[in-house]
Amino acid sequence: MDCKSRSSTCIAPINIAVIKYWGKSDEEQIIPLNDSISITLDTDYMFTKTTATIGPEFTQDSIVLNNEQGSGDGVRFQNCLSEIRKLAASSKHSSTVEKSTWKVAIVSENNFPTKAGLASSASGYACLVFTLAQLYELESHQSELSALARRGSGSACRSLFGGFVRWFHDSQPCIARPIAEAEHWPELRCLVAVVSNTSKSVGSTEGMRRSAETSKLLEHRVKHVVRDRIEDMKMAILEKNFVKFAEITMRDSNQFHAICLDTYPPLFYMNSTSQAIIQLVHRYNQIRRSIKVAYTFDAGPNAVLFLEQAEISRFASVFYSVFGSTPHDQFFRGKVPDLLDPTEDVASLVPEKALKGQVQYTIVCNVGQGPKNIDPTG
Ligand code: DP6
Repeated sequence: MDCKSRSSTCIAPINIAVIKYWGKSDEEQIIPLNDSISITLDTDYMFTKTTATIGPEFTQDSIVLNNEQGSGDGVRFQNCLSEIRKLAASSKHSSTVEKSTWKVAIVSENNFPTKAGLASSASGYACLVFTLAQLYELESHQSELSALARRGSGSACRSLFGGFVRWFHDSQPCIARPIAEAEHWPELRCLVAVVSNTSKSVGSTEGMRRSAETSKLLEHRVKHVVRDRIEDMKMAILEKNFVKFAEITMRDSNQFHAICLDTYPPLFYMNSTSQAIIQLVHRYNQIRRSIKVAYTFDAGPNAVLFLEQAEISRFASVFYSVFGSTPHDQFFRGKVPDLLDPTEDVASLVPEKALKGQVQYTIVCNVGQGPKNIDPTG
């Protein structure tokens, strides 16, 4: 490496929307039709790691994504880069101004399945923007970076923050801001179920464009549903009211997938395993006589389940009896739960029809912090 070259390595978390973003009022600027709320997952088990290097000797911007050469000319990548360079060019430090003219080499990888509905573009663009800001030693506020990450992928603006995050559709600039820190609800756990998937579905950008053009239900949601739901969800989070939080989360996921069906031609993101998970959760809650588990699904068949720590062993045991086909310490990754013998009541949930193997594995984790610099000197 040239002695003038510099590099920085950072990691950024994924976030899971509990009030969904679906549809834009401005495609180029990536302005959403409605506010959304997400939960940032801890980076102990799921993250994007990005190394950015700048040097006067580089002749073009380049990007390697999960070991594959990507296009450094991509519009969204270039939008993020040019906004970051503008900030660097206006720095009071002359060395930063000089570096703003250099080309960059980006190497980025995710340690979770990409393009399967696990928010890889969110952690990816959040990590890109955060890493470049570290590299240029920008003194930008996190909300400024949130607006820049949004230009890469809408949901990325939420991954700049830890904890519980709201993205405002009508703020100037259009940014996300935290509702509560990660430590606010320490008992909350997330179980990500990676569902076997062979079909390739329509990407979020194309899917939401199609919904915005054709779905009357999306219009109804934006006009009459989301505003109240956002306020109710915010209160549920601040009060740590799991029952309220869980019901709104499930209803919002269901409405999002109803909009997908109302889109013309329709979008199918969930599959029969996703539906089996939804049924299992409702029957489990019924037997437990209270809402103990919530599900949500993005633009893919993987389920993200929320529950409190006190319920983890009981629910994980049932889930494993239904779907697990590998040893328990392979099926559960992350914070591997202790399993119990399912009690008689919940044992009735294990169906006769074999669903084993339809969930490949699960990742159990906590609510977590925003991006981090992991340079040895960072
Ligand atoms: C279903 O952020 O991937 O995950 O802004 O076009 O890049 P673009 O879309 P993206 O959409 C995510 C949609 C979602 C819901 C959500 O995360 O709020």
